[in-house]
Amino acid sequence: MSDHPDYDRLSALRADINRHNYAYYVNNESTITDADYDALMRELQHIESDHPEWVSADSPTQRVGAKPDKGFVTVSHPVPMLSLDNAFSDDDLQDFDRRVSERLATFAPDIVETPNTQDLFSDHASVDNSITYCAEPKLDGLAVSLIYENGQLVRAATRGDGATGEDITLNARTLNTIPLSLMGSGWPAFLEVRGEVYMPLAGFDALNNSQREKGEKAYINPRNAASGALRQLDPALTRARPLEFCCYAVGQVTGGTLPKSHWGILDTLGRWGFKTNPETRLVKGSAGCAQYFAQLGEKRAQLPYDIDGVVFKVDDMGLQARLGFVSRAPRWAIAQKFPAQEQTTQLLAVDFQVGRTGAITPVARLAPVFVGGVTVSNATLHNQDEIERLGVGIGDQVIIRRAGDVIPQIVKVATPATPHVPIEFPLDCPICHSSLERVVGEALVRCTAGLYCAAQRKEGLKHFVSRKAMNIDGLGDKLIDTLVDQGLVNGFSDLFRLSKDDLLALERLGEKSADNLLQALEHCKETTFAKFLYSLGIREVGVATARNVAQYFGDLESLYAASIDQLLSVPDVGPIVAEHLFGFLQEQHNQEQIAALLSLGVHWLAPVAATGQPLVGQTWVVTGKLETMTREAAEARLRDKGAQVAGSVSKKTTQVVAGPGAGSKLKKATALEIPVGDEAWLIAFLASLDTDAGI
Ligand code: IVH
Repeated sequence: MSDHPDYDRLSALRADINRHNYAYYVNNESTITDADYDALMRELQHIESDHPEWVSADSPTQRVGAKPDKGFVTVSHPVPMLSLDNAFSDDDLQDFDRRVSERLATFAPDIVETPNTQDLFSDHASVDNSITYCAEPKLDGLAVSLIYENGQLVRAATRGDGATGEDITLNARTLNTIPLSLMGSGWPAFLEVRGEVYMPLAGFDALNNSQREKGEKAYINPRNAASGALRQLDPALTRARPLEFCCYAVGQVTGGTLPKSHWGILDTLGRWGFKTNPETRLVKGSAGCAQYFAQLGEKRAQLPYDIDGVVFKVDDMGLQARLGFVSRAPRWAIAQKFPAQEQTTQLLAVDFQVGRTGAITPVARLAPVFVGGVTVSNATLHNQDEIERLGVGIGDQVIIRRAGDVIPQIVKVATPATPHVPIEFPLDCPICHSSLERVVGEALVRCTAGLYCAAQRKEGLKHFVSRKAMNIDGLGDKLIDTLVDQGLVNGFSDLFRLSKDDLLALERLGEKSADNLLQALEHCKETTFAKFLYSLGIREVGVATARNVAQYFGDLESLYAASIDQLLSVPDVGPIVAEHLFGFLQEQHNQEQIAALLSLGVHWLAPVAATGQPLVGQTWVVTGKLETMTREAAEARLRDKGAQVAGSVSKKTTQVVAGPGAGSKLKKATALEIPVGDEAWLIAFLASLDTDAGI
């Protein structure tokens, strides 16, 4: 057999898969994308099913993962933690549904005689003869088993190879989403809860940004970051990472009973204090599954965590028991995969883009590749440090990742090109050729030319016209590029000097569009002081800061006259923001630009005299979740009463309103002994102000 060509391929595949498994499971390192790994595994499974005589106990298909590494105590799972079969298309899913139905049909006479399942037949199957499945997102993290004895968490373990895992109890205890003791009552004496530990995308991005700031390598994906965090030897390090646990099944259960449907079990676990996935639904038959899969696929990019597919489970536990298991997976469940979020492709070239504030960003041009549901041909490389950390060169095969709505990233070199072709960072601005500066303490390199640089002018104008700034309709990015390239617009004020003839002379701009644009330009001239400040694009001055500055100073003259110290008294303004604001306002060409805008008719109404309002001079912070109104609505009402609303708690804060889920801001308020009220208190307080005013 060893001279059989398929056998050679089989040996090579096993060696490859073993190498990737070792790197991934033992060393926490990704050496291949999920999609490529799946393809190797499928090819091996295929050869083995053609040649069952070649299947050996040490084949990667015969175990799920590699042995756990040293450091944690190895524990065995009371019931093996199985894997799931995969479906890659709606057809695969139909096959699965057919297999389930056919197998159950064989058992039908039995089932009808059993009182519990008789219910099921009348509830679910008899109407349209289709199976009810519980459909759940397939979270992309690590499977964890939690054991509760008499309602107390006594052990947490990783899945490991399915039979044995690592005891991670101390680390698991640090996750707020893992109850230390169960809520409610009625739990079995021994209860094993299973679910996924994962890192939400926001926490992952924040972690990677801080890794990059510290000059350390970014994590390839949230799953690797979660795995690394959960297997820290020091639980304090785990605690510092934004991990979550979401339950999806039970393992061993003794000394009590659970509902007879999977849905019912999840519901019960929810009441005992576990997080369950809010996207979970009951669906009927393969058509119901296909519809759910399509709908969740649409929603995938907006979810705050990574999912790599959907898991469909026969909902009735009695039917699950009848269907049973084959080798490593249950017959009653299947995972249908979404397009991979990581792919390998070639780095063709690197361009350098100049942003609004002059920051030079290297942009990777890639051989187009389908990833995360779209074709990607560009990815960000962040900055020079990142290029060095990745050690990436032109022509390398790289792993790229696109998850959610975030810009695609290069996360790793898969295969370097030989010889290595280094990426040359430009020595001067690629647009205006002015010199570049590297700001001390920042990874960024900036063009020093400010608004003399066409790229910065264009980006500045795009910001100026954007919705939250001057909100000028009909001025898209392309038109701005053209206006700057043709020399018609240099500064913001030039926009208001455009004539209809100027616009009509532009290619592809018709009479109607020109009229609309001129009207929009006229219309936007009436704005607010806050929006005007925001639209100037001062570094670090976002919508909220601009609003606070506008509210604090009331008019431009007072702002021009402000010292750094006065700027520092504005809520949320710290030394860096104050420095940028002060510097911007001192700059002569900025003053000229502002004067030109005002002389061309940009104006705003003086703010309603806030002096009579009861909360003038106070700074409020609203944090956590509110139930009867949105946080924005609460903040707007406070502002109406004359308060400044800040995003962070400091000594300047007068009052904090904290809803459920409030975290560090509430802690800080307590530490600084700042008064804290909840939503009910706020409502009563606002009502008392209204009553007082009415009297
Ligand atoms: S059920 C016997 N449900 O997928 C079935 N698994 O390929 C046990 N996973 O190791 C798994 N989300 O880490 C199940 N809603 C979900 C899941 C889920 C993610 C993971 C889990 C498991 C792997 C199986």
